[in-house]
Amino acid sequence: MHEELIEAFALDGRVAVITGAASGIGRETARMLAQAGATVVLGDVDQEGLAAAQSLIEEIGAGAISHAIDVSKRADVESIADCALEAYGQIDIWVNCAGILPKTSMLDATESDLDRGIAVNLKGVYWGCVEAGRAMKDAGRGGPSSTSRRAVASRLSRAFPSIA
Ligand SMILES: NC(=O)c1ccc[n+]([C@@H]2O[C@H](COP(=O)([O-])OP(=O)(O)OC[C@H]3O[C@@H](n4cnc5c(N)ncnc54)[C@H](O)[C@@H]3O)[C@@H](O)[C@H]2O)c1
Repeated sequence: MHEELIEAFALDGRVAVITGAASGIGRETARMLAQAGATVVLGDVDQEGLAAAQSLIEEIGAGAISHAIDVSKRADVESIADCALEAYGQIDIWVNCAGILPKTSMLDATESDLDRGIAVNLKGVYWGCVEAGRAMKDAGRGGPSSTSRRAVASRLSRAFPSIA
């Protein structure tokens, strides 16, 4: 990767919490953040997948810890934030990737299917934002989402003024 690009996106000294980190988008996001220099705190219900994801991150030489959580439970989401703060003293990035897809079509869905979808996909993300916000507010800082287009554009324009 271009050196200026790596420097612009360097995350050395940053701590990232990633939910849904045992597979798919969450695991790849965790790996990418670790490659950029961040220390990562991995959360998921899948404990076996979590252990494998942690090994993957450790192979690239980054710091990583895992914490089993069910994001539909507020106390679990709070516990991964506490775990990150106890281990590393800060949370700079929070990625809500834990999620489920409906197993049935909408026409066959039961009320409990819908309740579970709302608990994981809506409340899980909501509590994640609350915990990230709480940690950043307590630290007296916080900024735009790391995935917002404006944040990415601003970093790119610092790395490559000619394209600004
Ligand atoms: N893959 C895509 O193309 C795509 C596109 C748009 C949106 N999404 C959504 O993005 C999210 C991640 O997608 P993915 O492809 O990585 O899916 P995935 O199934 O590979 O990963 C989801 C992870 O979330 C974990 N998880 C599920 N319920 C949980 C809970 N209650 N608490 C904690 N962890 C839990 C799973 O164990 C799994 O590791 C999903 O919500 C998916 O619906 C995916």
